[in-house]
Amino acid sequence: MIPALDARLAAAARMCRPGTVVADIGCDHGKLTAYLACTGLYPKVIGADLRPGPLSKAAQTVQNAGCGGCVDLRLGDGLSVLAPGEAGTIVLAGMSAQTAIEILSAARWVFAPDGPRLVLVPATRHATLRAWLYRSGFALAADEPVQAAGHWYAVMAADYVGEPQPLTLERCLYGRTGEYPGGADYAALQRGRLQKLRRGLQDAEPLAQAIDAHLQAARAAGLPCTLPR
Ligand SMILES: C[S@@+](CC[C@H](N)C(=O)[O-])C[C@H]1O[C@@H](n2cnc3c(N)ncnc32)[C@H](O)[C@@H]1O
Repeated sequence: MIPALDARLAAAARMCRPGTVVADIGCDHGKLTAYLACTGLYPKVIGADLRPGPLSKAAQTVQNAGCGGCVDLRLGDGLSVLAPGEAGTIVLAGMSAQTAIEILSAARWVFAPDGPRLVLVPATRHATLRAWLYRSGFALAADEPVQAAGHWYAVMAADYVGEPQPLTLERCLYGRTGEYPGGADYAALQRGRLQKLRRGLQDAEPLAQAIDAHLQAARAAGLPCTLPR
């Protein structure tokens, strides 16, 4: 049976580059690994996890899906399970932004014009992850806001373009989510989070001033700063 994906993982699956080897790092239950294998669009799907428990769950999911022929399950930390250049798409879903940044920073081969597409579904701190991507020379090819289990997520596809991308508060907060249905609700949520962040900053800090200006402009334009009920 092909596993059903939630909206996060379904969006991530749509962003993988067909015809490439895909590595689903932190595969846990293995639903995305098995789903991708069942599509027949990828020569190999590598599912990897830091811990043996999740990896055996993934093995069971793949077996139930009956499409294990192109699946390779590996135990290990981050991209250490891959040879440099081995995957053309790397998925990191359901991890904190910080963990995703640490995993990617440890694999320099990812930072290359012919390097892999990154498909990222951070569990936290979307703006921090976008800022890191821009600074590191990645452009967002997609940035889809989706709801799953009552939470909003941003599902990002990032390609290395070789030079740092413009870094503004707006670009970090919203990325390209405004191009999708759900973008307005996602933006309201991000503004709500921004107000929380502001409370921890001193008035004189440049970030505090940028946030004040941004929120003031949003309110003046009648934009909500929390999710509509
Ligand atoms: C919350 S689960 C996400 C599962 C799935 N990707 C999803 O989004 O539904 C996070 C998984 O990442 C794994 N993980 C955390 N740090 C990791 C690392 N450095 N390398 C590989 N896997 C890691 C955990 O063991 C866990 O199984």
